[in-house]
Amino acid sequence: MLIAGNWKMFKGPGETRSFLESFEPPEGVDVIVCPPYVSLAAAVETGRTVYAQNVHWEPNGAYTGEIAPEMLLELGVHGALVGHSERRQLFGESNEMVARRARTALGAGLGVIACVGETLEQRESGDTDLVLKIQVEAIAFAAGAHEKLVLAYEPVWAIGTGQTATPAMAEEAHGFIKDILDRPVLYGGSVKPENAAELLAQPSIDGALVGGASLEPDSFAAICRIASASDREHG
Ligand code: PGA
Repeated sequence: MLIAGNWKMFKGPGETRSFLESFEPPEGVDVIVCPPYVSLAAAVETGRTVYAQNVHWEPNGAYTGEIAPEMLLELGVHGALVGHSERRQLFGESNEMVARRARTALGAGLGVIACVGETLEQRESGDTDLVLKIQVEAIAFAAGAHEKLVLAYEPVWAIGTGQTATPAMAEEAHGFIKDILDRPVLYGGSVKPENAAELLAQPSIDGALVGGASLEPDSFAAICRIASASDREHG
């Protein structure tokens, strides 16, 4: 089981350090934290597994505001998220950009969590499978079933809204994704201690990408403990 905490634009270096110094992940679960760029060094110093929230596809160049894979490696960062729906929706990232980011990061030796997911409008108009297929195929075409690649299914309508996909809905989407690209798939979208157990009990759900509930040490630790127990049950 893998639990990743996406801190988004929260926690500077000081808060990052104090969170991680007091946070002890339980046995039997791999935990990744994704702090903002300026807090990556502080997170790495605590000895945790650390991913950036994005990464560019070139080794350097005139790309104001972007960070290259080699720069993350130099800092001791282990990987990066790509294609988070906030990047896609608020910053106009296309499937092609996401795929390029994934390919170069993996090529440089970073781990990658590549996010996919449909909007409410797409789900309501019956386009969920089509949207997921296009998003996953772009990543599959660029990166293949790379051993350091993990996918995250994050229905956009469930992110930060308190609405979660039902375990059956998530399980169906995960199965669909794995048929296209056979890699572990995390579920993301309002995961919290109250709903983590039933989501993580689904056979095709390999972990969670947690936003809001990862910001607070107690709730993040509770989700990690649930994942650890669920891992033991799955054998
Ligand atoms: P949330 O965010 O858990 O706050 O819904 C998940 C994410 O955006 O990765």
